Amino acid sequence: MSLTRVLTGITTSGTPHLGNYVGAIRPAVAASRAPHVESFYFLADYHALIKVQDPARVQRSTLEIAATWLACGLEPDKVWFYRQSDVPEVQELTWFLTCVAGKGLLNRAHAYKAAVDKNREAGEDDDAGVSAGLFMYPVLMAADILLFNANQVPVGRDQIQHIEMARDIGQRFNHLYGEAAGKDYFVLPEAVIDENVATLPGLDGRKMSKSYDNTIPLFAPRETLKKLIYSIVTDSRAPGEAKDADTSNVFQLYQAFASHEETAAMRRAFADGIAWGEAKQALFERIDREISPLREKYDALIAQPAHIETILRDGAQRLRERYARPTLDALRSAVGLRDLSQAHAGGKGKAVKASVPTFKQYREADGRFYFKLVDGDRVLLQSAAFDSAREAGTLIAKLKSGATGLDALAGVAEPTGGASADDVREALAAMIEAEQEKSAQKA
Ligand code: TRP
Repeated sequence: MSLTRVLTGITTSGTPHLGNYVGAIRPAVAASRAPHVESFYFLADYHALIKVQDPARVQRSTLEIAATWLACGLEPDKVWFYRQSDVPEVQELTWFLTCVAGKGLLNRAHAYKAAVDKNREAGEDDDAGVSAGLFMYPVLMAADILLFNANQVPVGRDQIQHIEMARDIGQRFNHLYGEAAGKDYFVLPEAVIDENVATLPGLDGRKMSKSYDNTIPLFAPRETLKKLIYSIVTDSRAPGEAKDADTSNVFQLYQAFASHEETAAMRRAFADGIAWGEAKQALFERIDREISPLREKYDALIAQPAHIETILRDGAQRLRERYARPTLDALRSAVGLRDLSQAHAGGKGKAVKASVPTFKQYREADGRFYFKLVDGDRVLLQSAAFDSAREAGTLIAKLKSGATGLDALAGVAEPTGGASADDVREALAAMIEAEQEKSAQKA
């Protein structure tokens, strides 16, 4: 069974609040533990620069968001957890995609259009105050996604259009460059919207959102959390008067943290006329019960920024070696940024074989054993980890002799760097052929 790649980015422009926790962090950490999934979570700090031009705030937010995800249980040795700006291949790919993305497509992006509409209303020039960064936002996001050939991208509804644009741009690249090569360079991603996830109301009853300034910070100190919860706006029903649970933001917040039984009991208490003060106390206690062990971890993490820095750098470094660099090498060649000494047929024709593919076995910092199949500077096949060098070696021998086919490799080794299964088959066939030629010469 092959792994589904799930990727999502978090813009580092603010402090995580309860709405982010319930709507994104909690479900994402749970999903990262699902079987047959390879997860990618990254801090979208290049994206943050589009909105935030206060460097201290970008840095602080990056630290807070990284500490939050780790405190909430993300395991950086089981998922890819990295900072976007630690992977320069994102920028390199952004340019390749910029050169195939239609300007007209970007004109239609909601965020850009909203800015233009606002300017028109105010009688300003269409593009007044609009940076090229805002305009290019969807291309950068497409690069984030396409670089790792993500299959699924869990996002909020406001991001669906961006995923569609990533598909569009990826498809255009495939069409332009993939046809001559006889393969697709990019997987086309799908947006995944979780219908079961609650949207939390904020202090004033509108959706909890930084832009409404009505949020409850996820890791506010206990006393602050209590104060904020007591400041939630309610109606003026007196103690003893029945209250409507379904229209109450206190109840909705409670429900997002409570079990079915707890929620049912609270619904009864509302009908029985629980006092608002009492309901808020119950809400505070329920939230604090879930958050307080996480807050302890968070406080410990945030006090060690160098440790978090190391985790992020390590994640990016491994990810670059494993996927980003090989993929960009293949893409550079695809668009014609090539080694001049390597012969290529025609303008858009197939590459002329200059080398025989080989297997490379190696050991990583995690102490485990890996192999890859490389053809020139392209990596075609990448193995998962093996506990011993012998296991890896045995499999390589079987592949070389043709005793093991690609179908047996699912979950053990996967085509990478934009290579298709057919590319790998072709490379293996070429190796076997070269071996045969060699032994024929010896004989
Ligand atoms: N634009 C996303 C947001 O604001 C963040 C983001 C950046 C992202 N790159 C991404 C999300 C890639 C998913 C995939 O929510």
